[in-house]
Amino acid sequence: METRIFVIETKNTHYVLGVDKNGRVNHIHWGGKADADDYEVTENWEQNSNHSELDYTNFEYTVFGGTMYRNCAFKCEYFDKCRDSVFAFKDAREAEGELDIILTDEPYNIDLVLSYRYSKDTDIITRYVTVKNNSEHTLKIEKFMSAELTLPDSAPYEVKNPNGAWGSEFLTETTLLKNGTLTFESRKGTAGHTNSPYAIMSKNADEEHGDVFFAALGYGGNFKVEIQRDFVGITRAILGISDFDFSYLLKSGESLTSPKVYMGYTYGFEKMSNMMNDFAVKNILPKSFADKPLPVLYNSWEATEFNVNAQQQLKLAKIAKEIGCELFVMDDGWFGRRYNDWGGLGDWVVNEEKFPNGIDELIDGVNELGMNFGLWFEPEMVQDDSDLFKAHPDWIYHYPNREAMKLRHQLVLNLTKPEVKEYVFDCMDKMLEKHNIRYIKWDMNRPFSEIGTENLENGQELWLRHTQAVYEIADRLKEKYPYLQLEACSSGGGRAEYGAMEHFDMVWTSDNTDPVDRLDIQHGFSLLYPIKCMRAWVTDTNLTRRPVTLDFRFNVSMQGSLSIGSNLLNFSQEDIEKSKHYVELYKSFREVIQFGDFYRLRNFDEDGYYATQYVSKDKSKSVLFIDSNANSFFNKQFRSIHLKGLDPNVKYKLTDGERTVVKSGAYFMNKEYAIRLDRPLMSKIIILDRK
Ligand code: DGJ
Repeated sequence: METRIFVIETKNTHYVLGVDKNGRVNHIHWGGKADADDYEVTENWEQNSNHSELDYTNFEYTVFGGTMYRNCAFKCEYFDKCRDSVFAFKDAREAEGELDIILTDEPYNIDLVLSYRYSKDTDIITRYVTVKNNSEHTLKIEKFMSAELTLPDSAPYEVKNPNGAWGSEFLTETTLLKNGTLTFESRKGTAGHTNSPYAIMSKNADEEHGDVFFAALGYGGNFKVEIQRDFVGITRAILGISDFDFSYLLKSGESLTSPKVYMGYTYGFEKMSNMMNDFAVKNILPKSFADKPLPVLYNSWEATEFNVNAQQQLKLAKIAKEIGCELFVMDDGWFGRRYNDWGGLGDWVVNEEKFPNGIDELIDGVNELGMNFGLWFEPEMVQDDSDLFKAHPDWIYHYPNREAMKLRHQLVLNLTKPEVKEYVFDCMDKMLEKHNIRYIKWDMNRPFSEIGTENLENGQELWLRHTQAVYEIADRLKEKYPYLQLEACSSGGGRAEYGAMEHFDMVWTSDNTDPVDRLDIQHGFSLLYPIKCMRAWVTDTNLTRRPVTLDFRFNVSMQGSLSIGSNLLNFSQEDIEKSKHYVELYKSFREVIQFGDFYRLRNFDEDGYYATQYVSKDKSKSVLFIDSNANSFFNKQFRSIHLKGLDPNVKYKLTDGERTVVKSGAYFMNKEYAIRLDRPLMSKIIILDRK
């Protein structure tokens, strides 16, 4: 076969693949640009009794078969029990910003289509794979990953990923991968709180320097990220649906498309975060609200938990309005027999004891105050103490000879059954049809267990089918109610990833609202996820955790999508006035936070305080947040910092609450901004306006 080269050109990078003379698609290059005609398909010479030439060949999408022993992106079993795949180049479709490479395993008539979508405005390439069964037989897919990335340069890479937990999401660890495979995975049904479905691989990198290769998966079911460094020193990453307890029967004539991967190469983590932030706003988040600033919301959960009624919620709503909230969200507790976390889930009808005059008494009241109304659901769940469970005990995932284990006293609904999926959609649809609900917080509070599905021919499809069902319901709701905003939540940040963000407008970041912990959580979130999607509540952690001032709590929450979750009924007039001030201030620069460029200037580990700066795209406004930690060493209070992202040639008026100075952007970026951290847990908001 004649060799061919395909060069994908982005703003600053080339991504190159080639077809070798055996028809195999090789990976050739990913990184900075060269002359397009420099690239060539090289022949591999190495072969000995223990290593075939495959060990020395970089494939664009490695399949299991022959003497291929490293991690594969694809594995299947053909109808005749053959589990050895040989995919060769068949065709290519090229259009502006689009490349599809079609591979085929000819004797079995199965195609793999490797898709690439890209543009010259960014360095992010979107990738996905489609498997097409053109044969008369059923194909059993055993591993089906979205993309494989081969990194240049055989020196080892540092890999970043969170090692989190509930309440400690996004606590990022860095591992030097010299040997073997590093796996980040979820087997829980959702992405979960521990690892994130992404790969960040860098060399000698910090915020501003060093090669950074990254890829994020748009899928929040069971996922897997495998990063392997082989004996030659090549590092490869494979991202996709986890192959743990997974297989899929692809019938004759059917095709299956993988979730997307968004990948990029850049220099320094700062550019990576900003590139991904901008790309997500433009290309990933649901279109209806992607480019609109998100409202300041009030959420009732921490104030009233399950104990809700119209009068008390209205009292909260009045104060929420007074301090400037634009949306009032009633959280858990409004439906069925929901008096605590032992019952009610599944019965999505208003609890008449709590709302004897119906829920419109509250919704109308909230609307009259001039706020939109939002409501909490946990649609994938059911509890023993519910009418739904009594009517349909077989609607949960279950096995006849195993007791269904409960977590938070609840069971997971089998959304792979069409009637269950329909029921869930209908319940939410009915509430939206009857009431002026403009926001839904979709929660999910336990991992799966006893995952039996008597309805499926192949039970191992449930993980994928469940996740698809969640996305499908979210999309249908958004289509029918274009004004509806959706928040994805899973016991805090268990669904804070790009799979959810393709369908939900924002995510709940963590149930840990302690502002000091939160700074680390938000820092980790900001690496690859868009700032505007990060809901951040001001709550009463000062009463339960540690005495942190309201100023500090606002300061931290203003660094994302500001939200309030305090019990406002206990607020003093001074607290109300202060809150009013901060909400108004936030609104004055909300677009800078939610859509601006973003700089992580300092963190606790580096210099004992956080400094986070946002700059509007036109560089006319910037906001800098400073948060010191709990130490206050004498004589270590004077710090200085270089600001970033300003226009060096214009003057800015800097106001930090104590002083106002006018100096050039160049001065603040090259000389300094001097800070005094004279108290533990001190916070400051510094605003710069172009003169
Ligand atoms: C877990 C969520 O993370 C909380 O914000 C709250 O909605 C509770 N569930 C309600 O049960």
